[in-house]
Amino acid sequence: AETSNGAKIFEANCASCHIGGGNILIAEKTLKKEALSKYLKNYDNDSIQAIIHQVEYGKNAMPAFKDKLTPEEILQVAAYVFQNAEQGW
Ligand code: HEM
Repeated sequence: AETSNGAKIFEANCASCHIGGGNILIAEKTLKKEALSKYLKNYDNDSIQAIIHQVEYGKNAMPAFKDKLTPEEILQVAAYVFQNAEQGW
């Protein structure tokens, strides 16, 4: 998993703020399952799509990535985040 394309995209674009599935800016808003369920809109209904939306448009201090990553890359990194949230990072 660590050498998947999703992992590489995460390391290059997300890990600066979300190292280890955490959040260096807003400590409670991690990428762990419980936090995603609590804070990320629609996560419980459609997890991958909810992550994709956050990555495309950003939120507050998190930048938008829709002009920086391709749709395929955004899907890959969202799947990587979901898989790690399920596994416990
Ligand atoms: C929140 C994913 C890049 C800062 C989140 C959340 C997700 C996410 C799924 C919701 C977590 C929650 O509410 O518990 C990603 C991915 C990234 C990325 C996949 C790379 C493509 C970044 C970067 C920064 C950042 C580079 C810092 C410059 C934040 C902040 C929040 C957040 C501050 C909380 C936003 C709020 O609700 O006010 N991120 N992120 N993220 N992320 Fe990112």
